[in-house]
Amino acid sequence: MSRSAHPAGPRHADVLPEGHYSAPPADLNALDPRVWPRTASRTTDGSVTVGGLDVKDLAEEFGTPLYVLDEADFRARCRAWRDAFGPDADVFYAGKAFLSRAVVRWLTEEGLNLDVCSGGELAVALAAGMPPERIALHGNNKSSAEIRQAVEAGVGRIVLDSFQEIVRVAHIAERLGRRQPVQIRVTVGVEAHTHEFIATAHEDQKFGLALAPGGGHPEAGGGQAAEAVRRVLKLDSLELTGIHSHIGSQIFDTSGFEVAAHRVVGLLEDIRDEHGLELPEIDLGGGLGIAYTSEDDPSEPHEIAVSLHEIVRRECRAAGLAVPRLSVEPGRAVVGPSACTVYETGTVKELPGLRTYVSVDGGMSDNVRTALYDAEYSVSLVSRASDAEPMLSRVVGKHCESGDIVVRDAFLPADLAPGDLLAVPATGAYCRSMANNYNHALRPPVVSVRDGEARVIVRRETEEDLLRLDVG
Ligand code: LLP
Repeated sequence: MSRSAHPAGPRHADVLPEGHYSAPPADLNALDPRVWPRTASRTTDGSVTVGGLDVKDLAEEFGTPLYVLDEADFRARCRAWRDAFGPDADVFYAGKAFLSRAVVRWLTEEGLNLDVCSGGELAVALAAGMPPERIALHGNNKSSAEIRQAVEAGVGRIVLDSFQEIVRVAHIAERLGRRQPVQIRVTVGVEAHTHEFIATAHEDQKFGLALAPGGGHPEAGGGQAAEAVRRVLKLDSLELTGIHSHIGSQIFDTSGFEVAAHRVVGLLEDIRDEHGLELPEIDLGGGLGIAYTSEDDPSEPHEIAVSLHEIVRRECRAAGLAVPRLSVEPGRAVVGPSACTVYETGTVKELPGLRTYVSVDGGMSDNVRTALYDAEYSVSLVSRASDAEPMLSRVVGKHCESGDIVVRDAFLPADLAPGDLLAVPATGAYCRSMANNYNHALRPPVVSVRDGEARVIVRRETEEDLLRLDVG
């Protein structure tokens, strides 16, 4: 991380403190297309529009904080992933990133499948008409009720995560007179984060069944994953269709997937040798990264698709296996860049020699990622343009906690004042879905915008909603 002063001399330039920032951008009014929804632009009068609508009008009509979701951007990303992977693969959108009925309808129309990991997500998917055969159920601790709900609905895939779950799903399917298609989630000894991945012998975490035997190396095989395959194949009510691996999140290159695919194909080879069976599916999970700031440079869907197809084909050819049908599960990379969060500026407090704290009317209740993961975001003044000099700022929320930070380090115009609207881009994934009621905050609405029309797809929470839950 570098530190430098703006040529025009930002406020506090002589005393820039430690932080995750580089030079102020040349133009504070510019909207970097890598981080903003693709229909976002600045009008001639200086304010920002998304989906053809001025954020000032959206804030006026729907209040702040407000998540603005660009439907055209979301649909375009769905199509980009779908087209990139082509007819020999399935793209499962990971609903944990953000799920609502409108989103499920868009996914259904754009030809994506859906990964859910709870009864709640499954209920939304079914309520919005996603065909059950296009739904996969995940989770390391699915309840019997969730399994029953999924089997009864006829979901296309349950991803098994433990020995106990094999028995539980088999019993429920048997009682319901179904043969349930399942995959087994394996841990391949790869942990990926952004630019790096670490290939380890085995992993100490709650998901999946290890390829590696206790104390051994994943490529030796013979771990719990192979035993899970044996157990599943003995049960008539389960149909084993494939092996699933998910290696991490916010990943920027495919080298971690390469190791994962190599190890998963190794298991497919062992299964063929032991059981005389070639499984028809392989799922490499999600985790593909997006740009949160201008410094991030993720790959395009087509680059990732070409690379993953090629890796799987090469590994299968080397193993003498027919190439299985590939699936992937991007969540963040579909919805993340499609939304921004609009806040109203409140208190602006200058700390001489340090930075300016800009308080907004939301915070860790609508975006917990900065507090939780030290995530980086960018922020812009969106209700007007400004020629003022850049001011090193920290955008903070209104919660009773000093870690309640939305954007740790950002340059905002020095004439920023209470009432100005700010927007944080790339908040489509894991913001509304991880929103909470800390300090009895009311979770903001999600408004979708498209061609000059706005629609509330998730309404704002009200004090009545909070009091309705409080039955004491
Ligand atoms: N598939 C599986 C099995 C997963 O566990 C996940 C994410 C995904 C797909 C989608 O990953 P994505 O493409 O969205 O990165 N709350 C964290 C992210 C947790 C992700 C958990 N699993 C965050 O805000 O960064």
